[in-house]
Amino acid sequence: MIHTRGLTRSFRAKGETVEAVRGLDLDIEAGSVVAFLGPNGAGKTTSLRMLTTLLPPTSGSAVVAGYDVLTDPSGVRHRIGYLGQGNSAGSNFRVSDELITQGRAYGLSRAGSRARAESLLAALELEGLAKRTVGTLSGGQRRRLDIALALVHEPELLFLDEPTTGLDPHSRATVWEHVLRLREELGTTIVFTTHYLEEADLWARRVMVVDHGRVIADDSPEKLKAGLAGDRIILGTADRADAGRAVELARALPTVHEVTADGTEVRVRTPHGDTQLPVLLRNLEAAGVRTLTARLTRPTLDDVFLGLTGRTLRESAGATTATATHDGA
Ligand SMILES: Nc1ncnc2c1ncn2[C@@H]1O[C@H](COP(=O)(O)OP(=O)(O)O)[C@@H](O)[C@H]1O
Ligand SMILES: [Mg+2]
Repeated sequence: MIHTRGLTRSFRAKGETVEAVRGLDLDIEAGSVVAFLGPNGAGKTTSLRMLTTLLPPTSGSAVVAGYDVLTDPSGVRHRIGYLGQGNSAGSNFRVSDELITQGRAYGLSRAGSRARAESLLAALELEGLAKRTVGTLSGGQRRRLDIALALVHEPELLFLDEPTTGLDPHSRATVWEHVLRLREELGTTIVFTTHYLEEADLWARRVMVVDHGRVIADDSPEKLKAGLAGDRIILGTADRADAGRAVELARALPTVHEVTADGTEVRVRTPHGDTQLPVLLRNLEAAGVRTLTARLTRPTLDDVFLGLTGRTLRESAGATTATATHDGA
């Protein structure tokens, strides 16, 4: 559905060159749900704007939904839907009229665009709001309308740039439920950007971690977490002598990365915490080690980002918010 090679974009701003996207090589299969996860300024919006033909690349190539973004931008545009970061429908029009106008703009007949508007309102559970003006909708309802607008021409591929930023957690979940139901019903390929770790983790089957214009990791959330951070077993023992013996027993496990002790607490990093923990507990018991508590913690995508960059995504998001003002451009 998407193939890019060396896709690059730089900007000249105040005599300086900003390399927003540096050599993106992508192959995205039809029907997938892919997240671009990265801090503000990582190059997510710039990547999406090149793939949606809104911004010409400085160099490189991209074929999207079978059409070349450089030589056949209108071929691309007819097959994709795009929800830009923070963009929204005009506020004085009625919800149903917005959808009908959009359908007409894509060449549907009057009756056809009316029917399409009705089915989209139903799909995104906006029926009750059809007669309301857009300005009266809540943030979450408005985002769902934006998504409906991006779907009027039944695109095979939907790009969503930070679709839930600024929404409360409940509205975020509702937006995702709707997006994923559409995907199940229509097989739409979905590419979205986010700086919410949980969102990439929950909804994407493939996560591309981007930082400073480059993809620094690309895999399923499960594999990213298993490969980089591993699980962590944390044992509380009765005293330091028990902790020392627990360290030895943990080191003897077949798949263990690292074992450390801090007072009576023993920490074990392993890629397979769920199978290693019961084995370890049995061995501790057999050796007479007094184990008072045992916890298994799973790594998060934040651990992954930290492992890759030495920064947490939350820190980076805060540190570079100033660059986010370019996003509306
Ligand atoms: N129109 C522009 N002019 C100058 N610099 C830009 C422009 N658009 C984006 N940038 C810069 O390119 C980098 C990537 O921005 P962007 O793609 O918006 O990142 P993200 O969407 O991941 O937050 C940032 O450093 C940003 O300041
Ligand atoms: Mg952005």
